[in-house]
Amino acid sequence: MKIIVTDSKENGSTEGFKLFEKSINNGAKVIGLATGSTPVDLYQEWTESNLDNSDLISINLDEYVGLTSDNDQSYHYFMQKNLFAKKPFKKSYIPDGIKAINDPQGASDDYNQIIAENPIDIQLLGLGQNGHIAFNEPGTPFDSVTHEVKLTENTIQANSRFFSKIEDVPKSAICMGIANIMAAKEIVIMAFGENKADAVKKMVEGPVTEDVPASILQKHDNVTLIVDNAAASKL
Ligand code: GLP
Repeated sequence: MKIIVTDSKENGSTEGFKLFEKSINNGAKVIGLATGSTPVDLYQEWTESNLDNSDLISINLDEYVGLTSDNDQSYHYFMQKNLFAKKPFKKSYIPDGIKAINDPQGASDDYNQIIAENPIDIQLLGLGQNGHIAFNEPGTPFDSVTHEVKLTENTIQANSRFFSKIEDVPKSAICMGIANIMAAKEIVIMAFGENKADAVKKMVEGPVTEDVPASILQKHDNVTLIVDNAAASKL
């Protein structure tokens, strides 16, 4: 794993954006995207850049079950607001969290099919405080593909800051599995802030274990981790 330590989230996001730019200039066509607060600055740089997305396909990691795309907490809404409105892709895929209310398996199968038809060239990831990637919580099998995830209390708590009350946080999500993520040809994972320092240490230095989903990234041969000093402080 290549590690880039920067002095701020802003500079780290610039480094991250450069990796996407380089990869796209080198022919990457299918771009795996992430949500959360971590990638917001990177997306802002993307919208202000000269990169043209009109020949690219995007595939997002996950979506909450039960939120319509006009709900401002849905990941559909997040992507529209932060990237797609200004830089539309030829085609953008996000799991169908509405179909998943009654048919989570069908929504997951559809998504696995989409990923199989569009192998991901470069995938962006954030890191959960408990070491999760996307919504793959501790204990998720490394060979998992897209599936419905019951969110842990830790994740519901962490994500409640975006909702007016904690009861509004959905209890489940449809999420790419670890095997889908590991199949990406290149991975860029970013983590900023002291509250990520423990997870960063376990991901980089700890044993590769399903208890720390991100630790599997040690086994991928083209991963770049971008951290600020605070997130790197326990390395
Ligand atoms: C959520 C998302 C993840 C994200 C994580 C960290 O659980 N599903 O994809 O990486 O939160 O969020 P943040 O970037 O806001 O710290």
